[in-house]
Amino acid sequence: MSLITARRRRRAAGYAVIVLGLLTAGVAYATVTGQPGTAAAATPSSASPKQIAEGASLFSVTCASCHGMNAQGTSQGPSLIGVGAAAVDFQVSTGRMPAKEISAEMPRKPPVFDTAQTHAIAAYIASLGGGPAIPSAAEVSPIGADMALGQSLFITDCAQCHNFSGAGGALTYGKYAPALTHSTPTQIYEAMLTGPEAMPVFNDTTITPAQKRDIIAYITTVRSEANPGGFSLGRIGPVTEGLVAFLGGIGSLVFASIWITLKRREHT
Ligand code: HEC
Ligand code: HEC
Repeated sequence: MSLITARRRRRAAGYAVIVLGLLTAGVAYATVTGQPGTAAAATPSSASPKQIAEGASLFSVTCASCHGMNAQGTSQGPSLIGVGAAAVDFQVSTGRMPAKEISAEMPRKPPVFDTAQTHAIAAYIASLGGGPAIPSAAEVSPIGADMALGQSLFITDCAQCHNFSGAGGALTYGKYAPALTHSTPTQIYEAMLTGPEAMPVFNDTTITPAQKRDIIAYITTVRSEANPGGFSLGRIGPVTEGLVAFLGGIGSLVFASIWITLKRREHT
């Protein structure tokens, strides 16, 4: 075996080891920093009589003063019969309810109740009759959704109020559509299903369940992106950007130094 081939082979093996090393580190990085919380979303189970009773008692203490002892409505608040579990979960988990006072704006606040309590009140209201249920974790999961379709639906159906990047905006009639920066996938789904306040209802005929997932995927992706590098990598997300920066940046540094060393060696 000639000296040249041996050297070439060693060089090629060196490159291969570095590429392999970078890929392994990159994949490990992506795994460690990968999508948090998607599996943690609670999936509501069907309500038990005990859960409904717990919800009824929380309701009578906290909500009945405005919504009535049997949720039939008062001069202080609308009837909740038929609004469904999704409306309750949206209003209570975003801290809008229990309202402190009656006003046109119901801003997002830290929630008063935990998830179990919120689901109990929702189960109680659902037991009074109909309305949309709380979507399951699978129904709201952005994994595998069509981001491009989500973007075009968002632009046609949501952007006129919520702005193009979901940053919120003033509405023509003096109301304000909030930023979507803190909404969970479940809350986004529920907002579409129940149309809080000045927002229209997007039922499953207007926007199918699959399209709702596409919109959720789009919203949760664009808002997590700062576009630091100036180009967006097809808006796939910060993990991808980190990975590309890592492989590209570190990789080219390593190659540059190897190249310089080799050149030196060849000249001596
Ligand atoms: C201070 C009075 C007040 C209290 C207390 C209150 N609400 Fe409300 N609630 C309102 C008013 C007023 C509205 C209508 C707001 C609007 O149109 O944006 C409303 C709206 C709602 C809606 C939306 C109904 C729909 O048609 O989508 C739900 C659900 C709801 N409340 C649940 C609750 C629950 C559950 C509690 C207790 C944890 C509660 N509220 C406590 C006044 C109150
Ligand atoms: C006509 C204007 C309008 C349109 C169109 C609209 N929204 Fe809204 N949206 C609002 C308003 C107003 C609120 C605040 C309601 C409240 O505070 O009770 C809101 C609230 C929300 C929230 C709750 C934000 C939070 O506090 O976490 C979400 C999520 C949301 N909208 C998503 C959407 C999506 C997705 C679309 C498109 C499919 C859409 N909206 C279309 C006006 C609009």
